[in-house]
Amino acid sequence: MPVTRVEVGPVAIEHHRDPAGIGEPEPRLSWRVTTGIPGWRQQAYEIELSDGTATGRVASRESVLVPWPGAPMGSRERRGVRVRVHGADGSASDWSPWSWAETGLLNPSDWQARAAAPPLELLGAPDGPALLLRRDFTVRGPISRARLYVTAHGLYEMELNGQVVGDDVLAPGWTAYHHRLLYRTHDVTALLREGSNAIGATLADGWYRGRTFDRTNLYGDRIALIAQLEIAYADGSTDVVTTDGTWRCATGPITATGLYDGEKHDARLHPDGWSSPGFDDRRWLPADALPHDPALLAAPTGPPVRRTETLSPVAMLTSPSGKTILDFGQNIAGRLRIRVQGPPGHTVSLRHAEVLEHGELALRPLRGAAAVDEYTLRGDPEPEIWEPRFTTHGFRYAQIDGWPGQLRPGDVMAVVCHTDMRPIGAFACSDPLLNRLHDNVRWSMRGNYVSLPTDCPQRDERVGWTGDIQIFTPTAAFLYDSAGPLASWLADLAAEQSAHGTVPPFVPWPPRYAADHSDPSWAGPTAVWGDAAVLVPWTLYQRFGDLVLLRRQYPSMKTWVDQITTLTRGRLWDEGFQYGDWLDPAAPPDRPEKARTDPALIATAYHARSAAVLAETAALLGHAGDAARYSELARAVRNAFRREFVTPSGRLACDTQTAYALALTFDLLNGPEQRERAGRRLAELVAADGHRIGTGFVGTPLICDALCAAGAYETAYRLLTQRECPSWLYPVTMGATTVWERWDSMLPDGTVNPGEMTSFNHYALGAVADFLHRTVAGLAPAAPGYRRLLVRPRPGGGLTHASASLDTPYGPAAVSWNIGGGTLTLTVTVPPGTSALVDLPDRAEQEVAAGTHTFSMPW
Ligand code: BGC
Repeated sequence: MPVTRVEVGPVAIEHHRDPAGIGEPEPRLSWRVTTGIPGWRQQAYEIELSDGTATGRVASRESVLVPWPGAPMGSRERRGVRVRVHGADGSASDWSPWSWAETGLLNPSDWQARAAAPPLELLGAPDGPALLLRRDFTVRGPISRARLYVTAHGLYEMELNGQVVGDDVLAPGWTAYHHRLLYRTHDVTALLREGSNAIGATLADGWYRGRTFDRTNLYGDRIALIAQLEIAYADGSTDVVTTDGTWRCATGPITATGLYDGEKHDARLHPDGWSSPGFDDRRWLPADALPHDPALLAAPTGPPVRRTETLSPVAMLTSPSGKTILDFGQNIAGRLRIRVQGPPGHTVSLRHAEVLEHGELALRPLRGAAAVDEYTLRGDPEPEIWEPRFTTHGFRYAQIDGWPGQLRPGDVMAVVCHTDMRPIGAFACSDPLLNRLHDNVRWSMRGNYVSLPTDCPQRDERVGWTGDIQIFTPTAAFLYDSAGPLASWLADLAAEQSAHGTVPPFVPWPPRYAADHSDPSWAGPTAVWGDAAVLVPWTLYQRFGDLVLLRRQYPSMKTWVDQITTLTRGRLWDEGFQYGDWLDPAAPPDRPEKARTDPALIATAYHARSAAVLAETAALLGHAGDAARYSELARAVRNAFRREFVTPSGRLACDTQTAYALALTFDLLNGPEQRERAGRRLAELVAADGHRIGTGFVGTPLICDALCAAGAYETAYRLLTQRECPSWLYPVTMGATTVWERWDSMLPDGTVNPGEMTSFNHYALGAVADFLHRTVAGLAPAAPGYRRLLVRPRPGGGLTHASASLDTPYGPAAVSWNIGGGTLTLTVTVPPGTSALVDLPDRAEQEVAAGTHTFSMPW
């Protein structure tokens, strides 16, 4: 573009990827400026709304999450918004294209729909048949618009006149249903026609009534659809079709479906035309119209789960026992889509696994999840195409049993399913193994963000363990625009925390669990995990600049820190159950909590960290009293930590990698001498372990930073590039395509670790990717939302180049360096409206403005 042009992109609405049916009456607005003018800074903006609101010129540098300038929107309102910016240099942009935001149903009283529940006689045991609901209705004349507002107790898929509505998978997703149930808004104008129409839904148990761990009926024993179709006619009149007792129900082709066990579909049972008008449903049973609480219904703040990619098999294998196994070359969360032709009543079965052992599917890591899908053919003359609808599996391999005739490539595809977040960050370097590690981290994020941040996609678990996302959030926030989805999860966390009395070990925390696990040793407060309440919102603030989210979470953050304060003695948290440095490689396979680092040291360190973050948050939010009180608390906890765990010279009572990593990165030591001694000791320990990793969930995200803080860069690189077990690259050398739960989920001899906790897709140990971004490539935030970048690459480990790029809230930022001919060359792209602090080794720091800058130095 010509150097002097200033362009402003379409306005983004809150953190929405698609602002249709939003819940914010006054959504905040963000825009990005593109210009070649070096050092460009915004001096003013103008916003116009389609209702005529015009701000005129507002002198402001803000362009991220700027307050809504107009009157609050009511329910079902649609507004266009556009912006124009003026630079400090007198430049000005044209108006951006219009963006459109539409609100959903903002008030409980907007909901007329009752919960239409299939009658008891149709309900099977949990994870039994999916049920069909339908009704006909009439469209009286030409329509101007139609919207379907829909959710369910259970999982649903809607159809209108024989067509599936939208492309959501596993809708409405999993939230803390008894506090917040998400509804979706679909524009269905094009699916309706004048005259007779039909609306239908398939309903399955899902998280509401199906099995999680070993419990069922988590939220209730009746599944139900809550749907409201609003039709606006060209003549200004309206009609509303809602779920109620007039809907009719029957069983259908899905004879059993569960998230863990898989889906069974008998195509012979499909009632043709059931979601089209005029279908004869006289023998179907009426739904029960049940009450529900519309105050629980909330609009989503992030995208739904969708099918995001389809993979073809890379190999077809015959196992030693003669089974046909497809290898998709990538461990994913999702399911298969088959294209099959054969006799009626013939059943094909699909069994899923992440790895092979002795050439057969390794099923033991699935524990109690059967992960088998079955399709019984109708016997059509044309190939039948089928994909299960209410289940997903974590798998790379699939065993296909009972295929009629010859299985051909293209007959079976893997469909990747996860929350459809926008990818924003990338990393590459000269070491192909580190690149594969980074790819594996991204795949583990995709595999574990199925509606909420989970621990694993394959076994009988898949819940929102707080500790896992607490340590992974910095990485998650770089790889994907995860602010909206995580804001939703944090709202659940806060709701569960107040109901449960502490931050539960996983969120959502179904009432069934709360009742059954009143045992405080299991459901009581635990460090690192519960600290998600404080550290996840804080990280999101750093990365996305969302101060309002921080304000919303503030009571939850505070309640957590206050509660821990009551549990400490002399400011040490040394009582109660702790997961500790979970999965320390030295812990026995069946006792992941038996780590080398004292859980009290970890818990106290985290208490200090959360108190310090809370103090900073309080200061930002203008709570001066709290700020003073919590910084005093952080100081007191730090002192207690030192008294109990640190020798005057800077050695620690636990001589472990994790203990030193915590002390160094959480600023728990006193003065440069202690820090120097601790840093030296950490490097000694790593070297003594042969540069193999010695940390579990707690130390792993911190250790490379700790070594760098101590100046031990080469030790950090030797640890990072180690290939022997345990290390980050060992799984890569074993052919891993995702991050494993434990360092040795697969043992060097190719057998699966005997422990119960042996998933091949857990993102926690992949939290090191944040170090790759910030320190190897050198792209980090120096101010919230990357309004100022910190470019501090620390080349090493024999790498000859590394780069990271990120679509920040202000626009694309990039850092890239390479070494050649004795010179290190660094190129930095700084988005308009921001600046960067560039810090190269052995050089004075430099502040640079927006634009692209190149630096070189002898190397
Ligand atoms: C999960 C972990 C989780 C842990 C709690 C496991 O079963 O898979 O990732 O954080 O339990 O200690």
